[in-house]
Amino acid sequence: MTTIDQPTAAPTEIDEQKLMGFVFKAVDEVGATLNCALVVMGDKLGYYRALADRGPLTPSLLADATATGIHYAREWLNAQAAGGYVEYHPADGTYTLPPEHAIALTDPDSPAYLPGFFQIAFGTVHDSPAVVAAASVGDGVGWHEHGDDVFVGCERFFRPGYNANLVSSWLPAMDGVVPKLIAGARVADLGCGHGASTIVMAKAFPQSTFVGSDYHPGSIATARERAAEAGVADRVRFEVADAGSYSGTGYDLVTTFDALHDMGDPIGAARHVHSTLADDGRWMIVEPAAGDRVEDNLNPVGRAYYGFSTLLCTPASLSQDVGLAIGTQAGPARINDITTTAGFTGFRVVAGTPFNNVLEVWK
Ligand SMILES: C[S@@+](CC[C@H](N)C(=O)[O-])C[C@H]1O[C@@H](n2cnc3c(N)ncnc32)[C@H](O)[C@@H]1O
Repeated sequence: MTTIDQPTAAPTEIDEQKLMGFVFKAVDEVGATLNCALVVMGDKLGYYRALADRGPLTPSLLADATATGIHYAREWLNAQAAGGYVEYHPADGTYTLPPEHAIALTDPDSPAYLPGFFQIAFGTVHDSPAVVAAASVGDGVGWHEHGDDVFVGCERFFRPGYNANLVSSWLPAMDGVVPKLIAGARVADLGCGHGASTIVMAKAFPQSTFVGSDYHPGSIATARERAAEAGVADRVRFEVADAGSYSGTGYDLVTTFDALHDMGDPIGAARHVHSTLADDGRWMIVEPAAGDRVEDNLNPVGRAYYGFSTLLCTPASLSQDVGLAIGTQAGPARINDITTTAGFTGFRVVAGTPFNNVLEVWK
C-alpha cells in the first residue's frame, strides 16, 4: 500500500492491486475500442466472409482472397487473434474463424448477427466531435446530421431482431392484432428509418397496407428502394413526416421501433398517435431493453445503450423542438408516463429480448 496526501481529507490508502487491475481493464478496452473499427474493416473488406468460406487461411491467402494488401491482412488477423475473434494455429501459421463466430459475423439472417452493431457504434464515435461541441453549450445533434454508417448500421443492427421476433412473437403477443393484419389492416410505422420493420410486416401480411414515415428524407429515399427490392412497394408507402404530423387516420396498428426516445417531443408524437389510431387500434412501441432504475441498467447491454444515448439518441432529441431527451434507457415506466399524458389508458409490456422491450398501448 502507498498513500496519497489529500489537501482536505485524511490520507487515502491506495490498493496497488486494484489500481493495476483497473489499468489493465482499461488496456483491454483500448483494444476493444480499436476493435470496433477492425470489425467494420473486416466486414467491409470481406475478411470475415473469406475466412468463413475458405477455412484456415494464412495472411497471404486472406490478402489474395480479398484482393487487399498483405500487411493489412497480417496485422488485422493478429489483432483479431489477440481479441479472441479468430483462432491462430502456430504450427502452420493459419487463422480460422470458429463457426459460431462466423454466424455472428457473416450471417445477416441470424439474430446473433453483429456487424450492424459495430457499424452504428463506429459511425457514432466517428461523429462524436460534433456531440462534444454541442454538449459544451447544451445543444443537440440531429439524427440527419450523421453519416451513412449510423443509418446503415442502425438498419443492419435492428433488422435481424425484427426478422426473428416481430411476426413470430411480438405481434402475436398483442391483443387481436394478428387476425386484423391477416384480414387486411391499416398500419403506420413511425420513425421507420430504412423501413426494415415496415417491410418485414408487409411481407408477412399481404392483405394489409403500410405507411412508413420518418423526418429524415435520406432514410425515406432508402426505405423506398428497399420496399421496391422486396417487392412490396404496391402496399407500402413511405413519407417524409415528423411523428407529430404524419398523414392518415383510423389506423388499426401504429408501430414505433427504437425511435420514440430519439424524438424531441415524444408526448406530442403520442398525442398524434392517439388522434390517428382507430378506437380499437393498438400502438406497438419497441424500445431498447431497459429497466426503470439506473441500477437495473448497469450491465453490458445497458452500458452500450447509455453510450449510444450520450452520443446519438439524446443529442438527436435535443436537436428537435421540445427536446425532452428521455434517453435510450428510459424504461417502461417513463414510456407509460408519456402515453398516459397523451391520453392513452392501456399499457403493458408484452415481450422482450436482450435488446428490446415491446410495449402495447391502447386508448
Ligand atoms: C434509431 S433509428 C430507428 C429506425 C428504425 N425504426 C429502425 O428500427 O431501424 C431512429 C429513427 O427515428 C427517426 N426520428 C427521430 N426523430 C423523429 C421525429 N421527430 N419524427 C419522425 N422520425 C424521427 C430518425 O430519423 C431515425 O430514423
